[in-house]
Amino acid sequence: MALKKRTAEDIWIAPSLLAADFARLAEEIRAVERSGADLLHLDVMDGHFVPNLTFGPGLVKNIRAVSKLPFDVHLMITDPLKYAPKFAQAGADNITFHAECCSCDLRGAAKQIRELGVSVGVVISPETPAEVIFDVLEEVDLVLVMSVHPGFGGQKFMPNVLEKVKALRERMRADQWLEIDGGVDANTIGQAAEAGVNCFVAGVAVFRADDPAKAIRDMKEIAEQDSKS
Ligand code: DX5
Ligand code: ZN
Repeated sequence: MALKKRTAEDIWIAPSLLAADFARLAEEIRAVERSGADLLHLDVMDGHFVPNLTFGPGLVKNIRAVSKLPFDVHLMITDPLKYAPKFAQAGADNITFHAECCSCDLRGAAKQIRELGVSVGVVISPETPAEVIFDVLEEVDLVLVMSVHPGFGGQKFMPNVLEKVKALRERMRADQWLEIDGGVDANTIGQAAEAGVNCFVAGVAVFRADDPAKAIRDMKEIAEQDSKS
């Protein structure tokens, strides 16, 4: 099912499964769901678009059975349109594709993914200018700005991407999600919220926290405060 449209009060925290203990996956997912996560962020990597490998639709289908959280699938793969139908069938709610992969026809790619019955996001890596996705903004439900180089969890937040966040926020509708991904924690979330982000991916900061519920609560509180400032 597609993500709900954003309303003004919504601030979402999306734990990234990449930082979970894969030997205890079901338990880890249930724990973040109980801890107040709003979305589960699923990083799909093909060892080609990014120099790392993760998982495919088979795993998504399996974990669909253990969680009611909306699944936010971030495709870091060279051919997103080829695999998007499989992720939609497996239970994805939102599918986000990299602008760097479909640069010839971003609007066409967004429409094709939407036809699968999911909501659609477009994502830009840190070195990609915001202008690249201006024309596709009206076709998407979510825009994701990478605040690390895609491929690995646990990297340092890049504050220089916040200029792009501001430029995108100005052009986006109030009911669209503006998400950030990479290095988000209690120290960095405030500046992203102030720049206009309303959906925050956090891997290490949630899954490796001693108390994931407190980590989510604290980040949400800071984001709520700083998005008003
Ligand atoms: C990186 C992934 C991120 C990553 C975030 O390519 O897209 O979702 O898991 O992890 P943290 O929050 O640990 O930087
Ligand atoms: Zn991600």
